Amino acid sequence: MNNDQLLKSTAEIALKNAYSPYSKISVAAAILTTKGNIYTGVNIENSSYGLTVCAERNAIANAIINGEKEWVKMVILTDSKLVKSPCGACRQVIYEFDKNLPIDFYGPDGYQKSFTISKLLPEGFEL
Ligand code: THU
Repeated sequence: MNNDQLLKSTAEIALKNAYSPYSKISVAAAILTTKGNIYTGVNIENSSYGLTVCAERNAIANAIINGEKEWVKMVILTDSKLVKSPCGACRQVIYEFDKNLPIDFYGPDGYQKSFTISKLLPEGFEL
């Protein structure tokens, strides 16, 4: 199994743990680090809707908590045709750590497209 297949299958396992009783949309993200580890995240919704945290930001938190800031790729996987790319907040949080991270996006019908953060968020915010 190559890295892309491993990332996708790891995201598939995580997708089952999405907590999305309100939107009923499940999203998972998996980050491959330069050390060869994979960190996942899922969307976690809240009855106070604005407190929802996306899969991508939870995966990033997981990687950072484990001391891994150097990444190779992110995979995003969703069971919904409505979700087509990472939201703006997640783009900015990805940009904080990697200005050109490759991202592979998979929808319910499988592979959809690949992006880089520099394409998704030109001129992201930096201090
Ligand atoms: N969601 C993500 O997890 N990632 C995105 O990039 C877009 C949206 C989640 C948030 C919410 O739980 C559901 O998808 C519908 O917006």
